[in-house]
Amino acid sequence: MAGSCATKIREPSQGRKAAALNDIFCAPQIAWSSLQRPDALLLRLVCNRSLANRLIIMSFDLDVLRIFLHVLAVTVWVGGQIVMAAMMPAIRGIESGDTRRAFPQAFQRVAWPAFGLAVFTGIWNILAIDMAAQTDSWNMAFGFKFLLVLISGGAAFYHSRTANPKLKGATAGIALLSALVAMFLGFGMTH
Ligand code: HEM
Repeated sequence: MAGSCATKIREPSQGRKAAALNDIFCAPQIAWSSLQRPDALLLRLVCNRSLANRLIIMSFDLDVLRIFLHVLAVTVWVGGQIVMAAMMPAIRGIESGDTRRAFPQAFQRVAWPAFGLAVFTGIWNILAIDMAAQTDSWNMAFGFKFLLVLISGGAAFYHSRTANPKLKGATAGIALLSALVAMFLGFGMTH
């Protein structure tokens, strides 16, 4: 049954009636997959039924979207900190305090939404994979990674609030280093 569903949908010449037929024809299979995968159900909730069915049958793998968003979020969080650190000597040379502060403030406007997206997609990751089926070393790596993510977020928050130059420098270093190790562990968990 699976083969015939997918083939049918990929023939655009079939037109709307045929596509609607496909939806009905494939519904039982899709319904079961939705039950198994909360994220497929999510897709069916956020877009109309026919689009959701097409995406699911055309093997639009939500794992691709989930991992893409997770990696995108963490590249902004980690990569952004690296770029800010590289730009800091030049920024410090700017006379006007307002202009100097404008750079980190601009970074924060993308960094914190990215951190939020990393947490949201991280939870989606947990929902989408069978955590119980993972090895002990995977669970240990995940636990350590999660701790490092909390440290990175906490240090970055403190860094943005403190006026003490020494503490600002130290917390910037902790935020970046812990995020880098979390990223390394993340790839270690999945590859
Ligand atoms: C700064 C924060 C974070 C960084 C740098 C990070 C980094 C990564 C990376 C690089 C991967 C591998 C992606 C791949 O190529 O497959 C990954 C996977 C994963 N992350 Fe994160 N992550 C962060 C936050 C989180 C949070 C907050 C959670 C949980 C709430 C989380 C849960 C997971 C899970 C469960 C996977 C495995 C996904 C899978 O096997 O499909 N991550 N993370």
